[in-house]
Amino acid sequence: MPRSMALSGRYVLVTGASSGLGREIARVIARDYHGHVIAVARREQRLNELAQELRQRFGTTVVPIKADLTRAEDVERCFAQATEGRSVHGVVLNAGVTYYGPALSQSAASVETLLATNAVAPVRLAQLFGRYLVEQGQSGGMLLVASMAGLVPMPYQALYGGTKALLTSFGLALREELRGSGVSVSVFAPGGIATEMLDLSGLTAKFHPDDVGIMSAEICARAAVRALVARRALVVPGAMNRVTAWLMRLLPRSWVVPIVARLYRQPGTLGSSR
Ligand SMILES: NC(=O)c1ccc[n+]([C@@H]2O[C@H](COP(=O)([O-])OP(=O)(O)OC[C@H]3O[C@@H](n4cnc5c(N)ncnc54)[C@H](OP(=O)(O)O)[C@@H]3O)[C@@H](O)[C@H]2O)c1
Repeated sequence: MPRSMALSGRYVLVTGASSGLGREIARVIARDYHGHVIAVARREQRLNELAQELRQRFGTTVVPIKADLTRAEDVERCFAQATEGRSVHGVVLNAGVTYYGPALSQSAASVETLLATNAVAPVRLAQLFGRYLVEQGQSGGMLLVASMAGLVPMPYQALYGGTKALLTSFGLALREELRGSGVSVSVFAPGGIATEMLDLSGLTAKFHPDDVGIMSAEICARAAVRALVARRALVVPGAMNRVTAWLMRLLPRSWVVPIVARLYRQPGTLGSSR
């Protein structure tokens, strides 16, 4: 397998390209690597705006695909549309949703959406594109966007953390299964990023986008694309995050999980002192 991926003039599919980390990843691929982008999300207008921006600034071709990845038929269509009439070289499975609150309060609909978006869709897309990239024989690569929340059990983001643990484990296992095929699988596990996700989940009650340790989406995106291109196994971006991840692995879970719970606990919920 070539040591690093060359993206220039090649297509990289990015899910969740309508905002936050995914949109910045698309910009980095276009600006720094001269690649073309297949941009997937539900908000079509935003994808069209991104396409126009990248075409004007860098002459990039952006193929927008409107898809709701909670729907199995949209996942299959996304693969078919992306690969029709062009060759896809890289795949960034970034789309994701979260929530913030006690696990027992999550509605059935919220549970279903989380599992479908963060687990079922990326696993299925990794299967479809994994087979495709192996058949292409061009030494392509995939990047699965997990989270530091997948490195230890996360009270108050319990199911979100669980989906990210699944992606991390699945991605690293698939990487090993594809060893020798020329196709690389990388897992990217960021800590907090200043994106819409922080606002929408209500996590800004605990963490402010300007807090030390919350990364800008642009800096995080550069680290993500570097991880894909360099075919790294598991990347935690940012020195502070790496130290935290190292401590999380080193210290016993019986210490780490209660610390996480204290950090995330909302007043008035079960387990709080009030
Ligand atoms: N923000 C953080 O602190 C943080 C930390 C660690 C890891 N991450 C991970 O980073 C990734 C990107 O998150 P972000 O922070 O950039 O959040 P974001 O700004 O909310 O972006 C999420 C993206 O996912 C897409 N998406 C959500 N549901 C979808 C669906 N059903 N079908 C298709 N696309 C869907 C959204 O597009 P549409 O709404 O247009 O469909 C959007 O483009 C996620 O996997 C997240 O778990 C984030």
